[in-house]
Amino acid sequence: MKQDDQRGKKIVIALDGPAASGKGTLARRLASHFNLALLDTGILYRAVGWNVLQDGGDPENEVDALKAAEKISDTDFSNPELRTESIGVAASKVAQIAAVRSTLLNFQRHFANNPPPDKDGAILDGRDIATVICPEAPIKIFITADVETRAKRRFLEEYGENGTPEQLAEILKDLKDRDQRDINRSASPLKKAENAYLIDTTDSDIEAVFEAAREFVSSKM
Ligand code: CDP
Repeated sequence: MKQDDQRGKKIVIALDGPAASGKGTLARRLASHFNLALLDTGILYRAVGWNVLQDGGDPENEVDALKAAEKISDTDFSNPELRTESIGVAASKVAQIAAVRSTLLNFQRHFANNPPPDKDGAILDGRDIATVICPEAPIKIFITADVETRAKRRFLEEYGENGTPEQLAEILKDLKDRDQRDINRSASPLKKAENAYLIDTTDSDIEAVFEAAREFVSSKM
């Protein structure tokens, strides 16, 4: 920290952006570089979506989704199926429900404000971190890329080099639907906070994106 009275103060980074924009990779790089505790908030919504489907429920039904949200602590967060695009779709459906979002809010705020003693702060990535969860965060970043680029990245993540054009088309459609739901929902929609630093990753590789973010974060410390 530049000023003496700020020395030792823990930092909070709020990182938001649409599906497959590169938030996860950037969050991990920043967390490791600045020694921060990291919370991928998307995994919480993915766990709720997963639980609803496991119980044979409908992710858009409030009663089913709320029941799933309340037992989120029983979820195996390391299950790789949680990361698939079909669970992303279910996540974006439960995420529209205000009562589900409220159930997850305190955990996220507590994480942001109480990093472990050996960490210098926290970074949270999601959709509403800068706007709703941590509006006071001194460092806000919004990361995006055009939807075709994002679909190709998610396609490679999910299918490697063996995917088919049909699978790519399906992922593109899922991402577009998810964007629409995330942007247009009334409960905490995806939007850039006014004072967030915007990074468009369409034509940038991970290294360039990390460098831009690292410089921005350093300028705020
Ligand atoms: O990894 P990816 O960017 O594809 O998605 P994610 O961050 O894992 O989030 C999955 C879904 O959860 C999103 O499409 C959102 O609908 C929802 N979500 C949310 O509403 N708020 C958050 N803070 C994080 C995720």
